[in-house]
Amino acid sequence: MQGDSELIDKILSLKKERNAVILAHNYQLGEIQDIADFVGDSLELSQNAAKTEAEVIVFCGVHFMAETASILCPDKIVLLPDIHAGCPMADMVTAEGLRERKKELPGATVVCYINSSAEVKAESDICCTSANAVKVIESLDAKEILFVPDQYLGHYISTRTDKKMILWPGFCATHIRIQPQYITDLRREYPQAKVAVHPECRPDVIALADEVLSTGGICRYARREDVTQMIVGTEIGIIHRLRKENPGKRFIPVSEQAVCPRMKLITLENVLWSLQEMTPEIKVPEEIRLKAKAAVDRMLKAV
Ligand code: 13P
Ligand code: SF4
Repeated sequence: MQGDSELIDKILSLKKERNAVILAHNYQLGEIQDIADFVGDSLELSQNAAKTEAEVIVFCGVHFMAETASILCPDKIVLLPDIHAGCPMADMVTAEGLRERKKELPGATVVCYINSSAEVKAESDICCTSANAVKVIESLDAKEILFVPDQYLGHYISTRTDKKMILWPGFCATHIRIQPQYITDLRREYPQAKVAVHPECRPDVIALADEVLSTGGICRYARREDVTQMIVGTEIGIIHRLRKENPGKRFIPVSEQAVCPRMKLITLENVLWSLQEMTPEIKVPEEIRLKAKAAVDRMLKAV
């Protein structure tokens, strides 16, 4: 067994040799965030992937994020250190299921959350992330919008727009563990604290928050001078970054149970293995990629 510092040294030297960049999502284990070249939310990660000059992207996140990097950078090798690191919510809509629903709603514009497969993106008109969802929906000249797959993000957007939205019944099993009672109790314990939650939370949780933000938005909000204590309603991995970037401030997770097990599949061991073996590679077939890219490009242009 190798110690962490030995693993880290090997990863960093192999990363150089392979001309690779390590991108990590805000929910990754602390030790993975610490070796990454960039840590961010889904939108920031895809923007970063699109502009990197590295030949290899080691994606420390879940499958749809690595796929989005592959959609945007077909000439790069995109590695996902554990092929089982998929987002269960993204799997709640399939391309076939979406095609069937589209037949029932022929006039609807289809908006897919970035937490979806490349095949689903290819069936969609435009994509969005938690950071730009309201802006994307507002930019559309659409009578009716079919939003897939997260019903809770979809519901949150529908409270911020007059557009008619039809919601797919997907959800994030990690975020729905957060109960309103946890926030009420913590507010009593920390009356000075601001409450920031992710829009994948249930509406009764969102109703209790001061801010509803993407994970990148939560990190920016934490830097504000008037925020000295924060009750954080999202996956627990973000606490590492918040504490690291804001020494002296207090961050209280709403629930220790808000863990995304798939995000935690990425480890120092499999990052090193992935760079050594150059596998598992995530590659989207060209026909699907071009259609999916159109939906992602429309999003990047709209906001
Ligand atoms: P962000 O884009 O806000 O980081 O969210 C991604 C995600 O999977 C939330 O569960
Ligand atoms: Fe998917 Fe939820 Fe995990 Fe985010 S936290 S990757 S939405 S399962």
